[in-house]
Amino acid sequence: MSVKIEKHTYDVVIVGAGGAGLNAAQVASQYVKTAVIAKVYPNRSHTISAQGGVAASLGNEEPDNWHWHMFDTVKGGDYLGDQDACEFLCRSAPEMVRELEHMGMPFNRTKEGKIAQRPFGGHTSNYGQKPVRRACYVADRTGHAMLQTLFEKSVSQGTQFYSEFYALELVTTKGAVNGVLCFDMKDGSLHMFHAKAVIMATGGSGRVFMTNANAHINTGDGIAMTLRAGFTWSDPEFFQFHPTGIYGHGNLITEAVRGEGGYLLNGNGERFMERYAPTIKDLAPRDIVSRCMTREIIEGRGAGPNKDHIKLKIDHIGAAAIMEKLPGIHELALTFTNVDCIKEPIPVIPTSHYQNGGIATNYLGNVITGGKGSYETVPGFYAAGECSASVHGANRLGTNSLLDLIVYGRTTGELAAKYAKENNIVDMDENAGKTGLELLNRLANANGKHTFSEIYNKMAVTMHQNVGVLRNGNNMEKAIKDLKEARDMMKDYRVTDRSSVYNLDLIEALEIENMLLVSRIIADAALSRKESRGSHYRDDYPDRDDANGQNHTQAFLEPDGSTRLDYRSVRTTPLTVPTFPPKARVY
Ligand code: FUM
Repeated sequence: MSVKIEKHTYDVVIVGAGGAGLNAAQVASQYVKTAVIAKVYPNRSHTISAQGGVAASLGNEEPDNWHWHMFDTVKGGDYLGDQDACEFLCRSAPEMVRELEHMGMPFNRTKEGKIAQRPFGGHTSNYGQKPVRRACYVADRTGHAMLQTLFEKSVSQGTQFYSEFYALELVTTKGAVNGVLCFDMKDGSLHMFHAKAVIMATGGSGRVFMTNANAHINTGDGIAMTLRAGFTWSDPEFFQFHPTGIYGHGNLITEAVRGEGGYLLNGNGERFMERYAPTIKDLAPRDIVSRCMTREIIEGRGAGPNKDHIKLKIDHIGAAAIMEKLPGIHELALTFTNVDCIKEPIPVIPTSHYQNGGIATNYLGNVITGGKGSYETVPGFYAAGECSASVHGANRLGTNSLLDLIVYGRTTGELAAKYAKENNIVDMDENAGKTGLELLNRLANANGKHTFSEIYNKMAVTMHQNVGVLRNGNNMEKAIKDLKEARDMMKDYRVTDRSSVYNLDLIEALEIENMLLVSRIIADAALSRKESRGSHYRDDYPDRDDANGQNHTQAFLEPDGSTRLDYRSVRTTPLTVPTFPPKARVY
């Protein structure tokens, strides 16, 4: 491994090349010298697998407005989302979607040529009265279309890309974030990016659960790096399970299947969501649907010989509609389960999908120091997309993720560029990069006996079984014990490949180190939250506790390697409209 470190200087450095990173890049590049660092080539980022749509109250198919969208976002998030951020997201949505349209994103169209819209879980008209068509879509490949559009735009604006670069350390000097240490996976060379501002857009960590709908790259690297730099992870316990993962595999079957008229059946052929959510049925928010499916299975009403899954029926909308609006789903179901959904239902099961919490930010995407009520911003540091937090609360609504990417990508890109224009670069101190280099050297030379797959399986299985859709104290304590054993195994880890060229054995070592930190914090935070809210549901504390629970968990990593939890109240004051006080979440 080379010890020479090549230096690069930019105004703005963005870590991650999914929708958020690319939108930030195309904006920042219009004003200042901007680089994107990414673990994969940009159009292999996980945004590519987003399927069903991007939310915006365009009202193209029926009346809609951002107030209704904001209400759904606050209620869907079980009153844990910061309401200033919820307002900012929903108010900005129509303009942001039109901007994408003008960049050339090939949206499906209505007969009149407007952007077509479909219903999605938890999106309603008139404050919860009935489902509304709010999701703007490109068949069932919306994320794919968005990623290509934003990549082309950022290339045309002159963004510099460093693809297949693995970020090791977020560099801070005197409280400001001013760089990133990376290594080039292609040849093992080390690179220090010195910048006036850094935007974290590294996505989520869904791979810590065994059954997941996440790309291989979603190992929580950005969160772990941010924790190691002394900043906080907000609301880690709120991990979203998407109701319809392919049974036995976990890959996503978009909620748009239900938006286009599909519905769920238990093993008795009953459309059970009518019992749980009589108004919006299968289009209830996904935390609720996932729980109901799990209940049906636990209570012996699952489908199949082992009564261990649920069926998703869509054949009744007809072959033409399926092939026009859901061609990817047809192909996925056929490939992974040998089911032709034109003729028969798809076997599905809840699958780990989205990290609702993330690096603590204010409503504009500035990273905040967190901790006891603190909203102090960190100079030169921004976060956008799945790795950031404040807007989705305890449960994100489907299609608000692609919206988050474009709204917070644009906003952080603008703010970081402005910051870079108005401020001098902060010199790095002599320790810059030391933590990242130590981590790399320790793992590159690891000569023990335990391998990635042993440790990964131990972690991911216990997370899935004990910190999944339904939780309780005993199970979470078991997970914490298993995770500690997995971390102990890490002390006797083995990296067999000693080469510098595409050393994926070493990359996996760095990733499992991050996943063990992330999973430990998810389990600790979940055990500490003694209530049920959104995607965090405990059998032993089944009710929401607004008096004590309407606050953000703030997780910190201490210099001695221990973790610490703190709490910060939710911002319940929107920017311009009245507060939505917590109410029962009936659908
Ligand atoms: O079901 C889906 O298409 C997922 C969308 C989302 O998570 O926003």
